[in-house]
Amino acid sequence: MADHRLYKDLSYLFPIITPAEHYADCASQWRQLLRTHLGSGKHRILEFGVGGGHNLSHLRDDFEATAVDISPDMLELSRKLNPTVRHVLGDMRSVDLGETFKAVLIHDAISYLTRVDDLRSTVATAARHLDPDGVFIMAPDYFSETFIPNRVTSFTNHVDGKTVTFLEHVWDPDPADTEIEVNMFFLIMQDGALKVEEDRHYLGLFSRQIWEKVLQEEGFKVEWVPCPYLEGDLTGWLIVARYGT
Ligand SMILES: C[S@@+](CC[C@H](N)C(=O)[O-])C[C@H]1O[C@@H](n2cnc3c(N)ncnc32)[C@H](O)[C@@H]1O
Repeated sequence: MADHRLYKDLSYLFPIITPAEHYADCASQWRQLLRTHLGSGKHRILEFGVGGGHNLSHLRDDFEATAVDISPDMLELSRKLNPTVRHVLGDMRSVDLGETFKAVLIHDAISYLTRVDDLRSTVATAARHLDPDGVFIMAPDYFSETFIPNRVTSFTNHVDGKTVTFLEHVWDPDPADTEIEVNMFFLIMQDGALKVEEDRHYLGLFSRQIWEKVLQEEGFKVEWVPCPYLEGDLTGWLIVARYGT
């Protein structure tokens, strides 16, 4: 899980292929949900898998945020973008900060869980960090119900003298399991030279029924909020979970 090049030696490409500005609309939906569930105030929030801190960069001034990620390189990116946020190295499946928050957020990082046992341990970690009247929000990239196999996305971005073309192919080698494979290619043009890098990620693919079951086991009630801001042309749901019946 910690071996992705995009979150290690290629982390410098993350802000180029997915600039923080692109998260403004998505973050405004998260802010609205947080306000609906928590009311006004600079509430304490916790994000697991903060990545480059791009979504959080649009929320950090309205809330008191703590951010966790398994990758030291990504934490460093987020620290630079969000200097007022507390950053902690940790795995969302097991980290224990010994404190609770009004909200636990896991944006697209939740997609890196590929087994139901990982979902269970992460939901338990979130529960351990959540106030009884708090809210837990997640944004998986893919759901079994809406998954489109053999999907290719590509685009070119220009930043700081670099032109980076990103190409991604997503497929499901074994529809009987809960894992899909994403192959990424980066064509990096700088000073008249072209460098090609590649990376492979494995992501989870679960049905809404599995999500509901795992969350209910931990005592959560689930609300599905349509989300138009997932990657590319994907549509899906934010999973909003609270304790209750
Ligand atoms: C796509 S990035 C998140 C980007 C983020 N939404 C943003 O706005 O910048 C996914 C992140 O999940 C992190 N991650 C993957 N598995 C993790 C785990 N088990 N615990 C904590 N972080 C994890 C990766 O290190 C990576 O930084």
